[in-house]
This record gives sequence, C-alpha cells and structure tokens, in this order.
Amino acid sequence: MPIFLDTGNIKEVERFLKMGIIRGVTTNPTILLKDGVTGGMKGVKERSIEIARMIAPYPLSVEVTTNDSKKMLEQAQELAGWAGNINVKITIHGPNGELDNLSVVHELEEKRNIRINVTAMMSAQQCLLAAMAGASYVSIFGGRVNNMGYNCCEEISKLRQALDDFGLKAKIIVGSTREVLNVIEWLGAGAHYVTVAPNLLEGMIVHPYSKETVQMFLADAAKAEKTK
Ligand code: E4P
Repeated sequence: MPIFLDTGNIKEVERFLKMGIIRGVTTNPTILLKDGVTGGMKGVKERSIEIARMIAPYPLSVEVTTNDSKKMLEQAQELAGWAGNINVKITIHGPNGELDNLSVVHELEEKRNIRINVTAMMSAQQCLLAAMAGASYVSIFGGRVNNMGYNCCEEISKLRQALDDFGLKAKIIVGSTREVLNVIEWLGAGAHYVTVAPNLLEGMIVHPYSKETVQMFLADAAKAEKTK
C-alpha cells in the first residue's frame, strides 16, 4: 500500500483519507511549523494525537526535536506513547555528522520495541546501515538527491536490492517529492512507500484532458435530457 501523505495539515489528511488513497502520514519539524503547529512540544503532541487518531491503524511518523542521545531516547519513548500507530523519526546523524544516532535507533528498536523511521538520508549506503541498526523504515529524500545532481532512482534500486538480499525488515520511504512524476517513478525503482506532498497528490488525480472529457460527457448528457 504505497502512498503516505507528507503533511501536518488536518484538512489535507481528512481530504485524502476520505478518498481512500493514503496509507499513512509523515511529518517533520519543518512541515509542522509550516502547517501552523505552535506551542512547542505541547502543540506537536496535540496535532500528532489528532492525526494518529484519524488515520489509525495506518502509521504516523513524528520526529524528535533534539540531537542529544539521552534526550532522544526519552523523547522517542514519549512520542511513541502518544498513540500505538506513531513511529519515531530520528535523523541518520547529528547536524555535524555526529555518529550517536544509530546507537539510539538500535536501542529503541531492539530493546524498547519502538518503531523507528531513520530520516534525512541521501544515499543507499546510509539507508542500508540504518536498516542494519534495526530501523523499521528508512527515509531517503528523493527530491533533494536529484537536486544534488544525481538520480535517486539508482539509489532506491540499489537499496531495495540490498534490503531484499540480506533479509532486512526495513521498508523504504522516499520523501521530498518535487514533481507529480516522482511517485510512480520511485515506486517503480523499488520504494515500498512514497510520501507525497498534498499538492502533488492532487496533481496526480487531475488531468486537463480528463477535465475536457468530463465536460463533454456532462454537456452531452444535458443535451440528451432536453431532447426527451
Ligand atoms: C519525509 O519524510 C521528509 O520529511 C520530507 O519529504 C522532506 O521533504 P523536503 O525535501 O521537501 O523537505
């Protein structure tokens, strides 16, 4: 079931959930800020619980807001306690490449039974190591990879091959959508899920020629009605 919605906006979640076309939601601190979440952790908690309830049993990813190992462990425990379908996002490393995060991921997944989505990754090799640390989800940022000048489809294919070859449980989420075409391309390359920005999901549905066709059907139906 391949499509997640990349948003913190309640109305967008409602809109696409009602259509039956999303199977989960992902957020990050930047998305929550853009979608009007205020009041620090209290605001994050309220919005996360609301979305988690709406989409249950589908998963919601919520990111920690610290890079201190001890605090990440405490916060991850707290976020996961808000709802049974919350996965905790932890970045692959710290802001300056600090290497403590994978130990945190390993501890949370293997010893505390918390599902972790390792995020902010740009390469198959980063994702492979996150998967080996025990992550349930590995998030690669397709649009950002493409913007750096190389094709993320190659990274996705290599990663899927490695996860399958080595029997690793991690599922690949490709995020950072920039174009409507990304979704079908990235799924084709081997992503288990693509997390899609709401405007691009709408763009996948609406086609100018479909509009024209529907207009023709309705106009002809109206003409037929008049000739009764
Ligand atoms: C997904 O999990 C990511 O947080 C998100 O897609 C990042 O997208 P951006 O590159 O548009 O910030």
